[in-house]
Amino acid sequence: MVVIEQLFSVAEVADLRQFLGEIPWLDGRGTAMGMAADVKSNAQADASDPRVKVRVNQLLQRFGEHPLLVSAALPQRIFPPCFNRYRVEETYGFHVDGAIMRLPDSSEVMRSDLSMTVFLSEPDEYEGGELQIATEFGTQSVKLPAGHAVLYPSSSLHQVTPVLRGERLAAICWMQSLVADGAIRRSLFELDQSIQALSALPDTPRDELDRLHSVYHNLIRQFAQL
Ligand code: NI
Repeated sequence: MVVIEQLFSVAEVADLRQFLGEIPWLDGRGTAMGMAADVKSNAQADASDPRVKVRVNQLLQRFGEHPLLVSAALPQRIFPPCFNRYRVEETYGFHVDGAIMRLPDSSEVMRSDLSMTVFLSEPDEYEGGELQIATEFGTQSVKLPAGHAVLYPSSSLHQVTPVLRGERLAAICWMQSLVADGAIRRSLFELDQSIQALSALPDTPRDELDRLHSVYHNLIRQFAQL
């Protein structure tokens, strides 16, 4: 699980939320597959609305340019983000995300390796509505400030607990990673973060940094599936 702080600024979130107040919303069950539909109760922005498509493309561009997100996910394909809304008593019970997704308006399919939730409501604006992710160390609850995002394995069981007060807005998307193996992807992420940290220090010997860079890129060559 990786948290990306301030993927969107406070001003960008405010702008997005104003936009979300002006567009049509549909029953979220329409996009849930199989058993997931039975436990899903929320609303989703109408992805066929041309204004929504423009916003979605702006978000996609941002995701692909964000250094921490790219380092952690090594995205090859990103499913266009969906905006969702949970009001009081709405919830999305434990489920796993579909493994194979058909990209909208396309015959292409992608594998979901990573799911990402971008929080668009502040934690004090709603009660409940926590993203809970089952991990090997137990269930982790995630509720982040507006504009922050969390990346987690699409294979993990996860849920959004019922909203008890207020309204929870979020954007979610899925990514196919160049590196399918989560453990290898995690190690590459740690290595890259370490290289970034060492690069920022004044006394790191240049030749050692070059060697680490070369190791990183050689590992990418070894493990990336294009
Ligand atoms: Ni899900």
